[in-house]
Amino acid sequence: MKPINVGLLGIGTVGGGTFNVLARNEAEITRRAGRPIRITKVADKNLELARQVTAGRAEVTDDAFSVVSDPEIDIVIELIGGYGIARELVLKAIANGKHVVTANKALLAVHGNEIFAAAHEKGVMVGFEAAVAGGIPIIKALREGLSANRIQWIAGIINGTTNFILSEMRDKGLSFDTVLKEAQRLGYAEADPTFDIEGIDAAHKITILSALAFGIRMQFDKAHVEGISKLDADDIKYAEQLGYRIKLLGITRRRPEGVELRVHPTLIPAKRLIANVEGAMNAVLVQGDAVGATLYYGKGAGAEPTASAVIADLVDVTRMHTADPEHRVPHLAFQPGAVEDTPILPLS
Ligand code: HSE
Repeated sequence: MKPINVGLLGIGTVGGGTFNVLARNEAEITRRAGRPIRITKVADKNLELARQVTAGRAEVTDDAFSVVSDPEIDIVIELIGGYGIARELVLKAIANGKHVVTANKALLAVHGNEIFAAAHEKGVMVGFEAAVAGGIPIIKALREGLSANRIQWIAGIINGTTNFILSEMRDKGLSFDTVLKEAQRLGYAEADPTFDIEGIDAAHKITILSALAFGIRMQFDKAHVEGISKLDADDIKYAEQLGYRIKLLGITRRRPEGVELRVHPTLIPAKRLIANVEGAMNAVLVQGDAVGATLYYGKGAGAEPTASAVIADLVDVTRMHTADPEHRVPHLAFQPGAVEDTPILPLS
């Protein structure tokens, strides 16, 4: 069957992982998608790196705009990150009728309303499984598995870097700076690690989960955001002595007056499952009215766990792109909900 052609923007840690997993698991992925998925074009400003990773298997360019305008490309994967050029490229790709798969939580939390509206208008899909909690299929869980529920609250460890820092400081007595450097070396940290440490990355992610769970607009600017930079080894030690662990949690909760949206360090009784989520692992608790509490656990960062989520979206988009348009369920397109004027509540 005719392959679906994919253009990849940004061949960094996740881009490289996506290329490798697609190649390694080609047979399974083709079977699940119903047709081969081929990355035919890769754009990166580091041409040498792009050539090295693709090893002759895709055309390489440093002009990302040529990829989003290429009539042969069906799906664009955006892995550049940040709010600037990534927004322009994604909007251009959508305007050109291409489906988009992105891991860019910052872009969606800040410009998601504009991007999803553009995609809706153009009838294309935007997949963003990789934007929250790396390899954990939390977007699919909320959108599909829990779609019968009125979601009551979500609380999660959704930043691997800070969880890694807190775990290593507690277990090995290592300094904040030493562990941060290791997180950067392992490819967990953001390009600007203050996004991790100050809770901004977690706030991007809980903004997306909140919008999805409650059918509200992305309202990142209203989130209460507090990171771990003010914590020191003594805080962690005293919490331990009192029977608690400190975790950076993203929390969103539906209340009659509005929605809570917050990120802050939280004391959790050490016996709780979520208190024992260590290293760069992520865990998301979702409370639905029908299902009760559900817990999702897995690797929240790194090349192949994130690639796993990117490729899951590629498979979904390929299936739906291939389906008779009359029978396509545009479930990857975020549908702004009926309660979009619900206020985000100040911290009480
Ligand atoms: N910097 C992020 C984290 C990467 O540490 O979780 C995955 O989104």
